Amino acid sequence: MVSVTIRPATAADVPTLRALGVRTWYATYDGVLAPGAVEAGIDEWWNAYSLGAACRDGRMLVAVRAGVVVGLLEFDRLADGRPVVWKLYVAPEAQRTGVGRALLRHHLRTIGDGEALWLEHPEGNAAAAAFSERLGFTARAVEPSGHDPATAVVRRALEPRR
Ligand SMILES: CC(C)(COP(=O)(O)OP(=O)(O)OC[C@H]1O[C@@H](n2cnc3c(N)ncnc32)[C@H](O)[C@@H]1OP(=O)(O)O)[C@@H](O)C(=O)NCCC(=O)NCCS
Repeated sequence: MVSVTIRPATAADVPTLRALGVRTWYATYDGVLAPGAVEAGIDEWWNAYSLGAACRDGRMLVAVRAGVVVGLLEFDRLADGRPVVWKLYVAPEAQRTGVGRALLRHHLRTIGDGEALWLEHPEGNAAAAAFSERLGFTARAVEPSGHDPATAVVRRALEPRR
């Protein structure tokens, strides 16, 4: 299999990240979230402004295979300082080939030894649940989404024993 390179994203990546994110978002959430919530998520999380801000602030990684961007990981810190992954998206045709694992492992090397890493996903996203459990995240809470109370969100943490 062709290897994957992980690098920080730049402003020049924004159109590619948006295109990858939008088609992966539809492939993931059509039939899982309410139609209005699918569209609202694209407007809120996949707009050029917020993607550009993440690239500019150094909070976005891209995975490149054979010269093609096949995945992205956006990270940040919560208001209380906990590290969080906000986006982890692999193009549908590249899924199950180790890209998500490579992005996550790369990012884990950059956060503090004693820190847990947090992420969340809608309860109906079975791939996200299987992937994050395989990588060692445990569910800490299942709560109504702040954006769509009809959707339950699973909040997970990976403990710092890595
Ligand atoms: C979830 C996601 C990021 C996983 O990335 P990926 O590159 O496809 O996953 P990897 O190939 O690195 O998989 C690592 C392991 O996770 C588990 N896994 C990943 N996807 C899975 C799926 N759909 N079903 C069951 N297990 C899965 C497997 O154990 C896998 O190892 P294996 O293929 O050797 O069995 C990817 O499917 C994706 O982008 N989904 C849409 C967006 C999304 O849901 N993001 C939220 C992530 S928390």
